[in-house]
Amino acid sequence: MHTTVGIIGGGPAGLLLARLLHLAGIDSVVLESRDRAYVEHRQRAGILEQGAVDVLRECGAGERMDREGLVHDGIELRFDRRSHRIDFPSLTGGRRVMVYAQTEVVKDLISLQLRQGGGPLLFEAYVRAVTGIDTDRPAVHFTHEGREQTLTCDYVVGCDGSHGVARTAIPDLTIYERSYPYSWLGIMADVPPSCDELIYAHSDRGFALHSMRSTTVSRIYLQVPNGTDLAEWPDERIWDELDARFAVEGDWKLERGPITAKSVLPMRSLVAEPMRHGRIFLAGDAAHIVPPTGAKGLNLAFSDVVVLARAFAHLNATGSAELLDAYSATCLRRVWRAEHFSYFMTTTMHVDPAQSPFDTRLQLSQLDRIATGTAAATELAENYTGLPVG
Ligand code: APR
Ligand code: PHB
Repeated sequence: MHTTVGIIGGGPAGLLLARLLHLAGIDSVVLESRDRAYVEHRQRAGILEQGAVDVLRECGAGERMDREGLVHDGIELRFDRRSHRIDFPSLTGGRRVMVYAQTEVVKDLISLQLRQGGGPLLFEAYVRAVTGIDTDRPAVHFTHEGREQTLTCDYVVGCDGSHGVARTAIPDLTIYERSYPYSWLGIMADVPPSCDELIYAHSDRGFALHSMRSTTVSRIYLQVPNGTDLAEWPDERIWDELDARFAVEGDWKLERGPITAKSVLPMRSLVAEPMRHGRIFLAGDAAHIVPPTGAKGLNLAFSDVVVLARAFAHLNATGSAELLDAYSATCLRRVWRAEHFSYFMTTTMHVDPAQSPFDTRLQLSQLDRIATGTAAATELAENYTGLPVG
């Protein structure tokens, strides 16, 4: 089996890349280790930047998103028991975000790929190794339906997430990483959101975030210590703790409802440089991880593959590898900006167990600057809604 671009991983990055390559007339094969149902139901984030919305529309995967997604013009910051709204369009020249779950993006991209003649998308195809990345015919070795197979390619792209195999094929990687002394406990609840826009709450009991999946389903997170056992968090305790963290002067009530899912998510920052070696490229979580506070993970993954698809299209049309050669440097500028923003949002909103009252006063001063000053609010709004993709 041979293809032009062998794509490892059928998460959002791999699926969008396959779609964009197909539209540029370049063939590809996607190898995904899990089955379709698993990939379609894996819970992840739910905020699409303007550029991600635009690219989904352009590639024909925007129809259901435009019908069911919720356009948000701002977020609310809560601290010191007060609410402050950050209005995106007025601060960014009209940019906004879309609340549309990653699970739905993935379902839309999969159905498009299978319906509209994209390249093969193989589920339960587990990639064991990549060889020959310094030659012009790299090979991807995988197991599918109990058989060991080899896909030879002109290029290989690792879209295989944070625990994938592609990163291990690159000999000269430098890994920059940081861990955080807290995790998130996330719940899905069958209750209409208690707010029209997301609420990011700083409190001395720890961070809390009210998000949503639809007008009837709430997605809510609260900061918990690393190593937290879910058994210590019966539903009642979660709601009581959320009440305390979201508490605000004036009228506001957190509506409770049946909790349908609960999980603990670790927080990590990581960048692998460079994002290319010879004939292999890394994109999305395979190359970088951000803590979820800035909602950047999916958006960064999309930006990478837009840049990469354009570079392959340029090679195809002109024979010039100039854009492919620039891929890593082009992406890393945006990646580090998003890493900084995610780190900033995380460390400004959470309570580090080792932090002093002085540190807390600094956080509150920083939040006050965002709530009351145009420059800091503009910076937050620009980072949150994202730069144009590419
Ligand atoms: N062989 C084949 N597939 C693999 C292998 C392997 N050895 N290892 C991992 N995969 C698959 C995973 O099963 C997964 O479906 O690669 C895919 C990677 O998808 P994601 O982890 O979703 O990563 P990515 O596509 O980069 O998406 C970006 O945005 O919201 C964030 O972290 C969140 O997933 C999200 C990310
Ligand atoms: C989510 O809806 O899952 C979500 C929203 C915003 C974030 C992180 C996660 O910053």
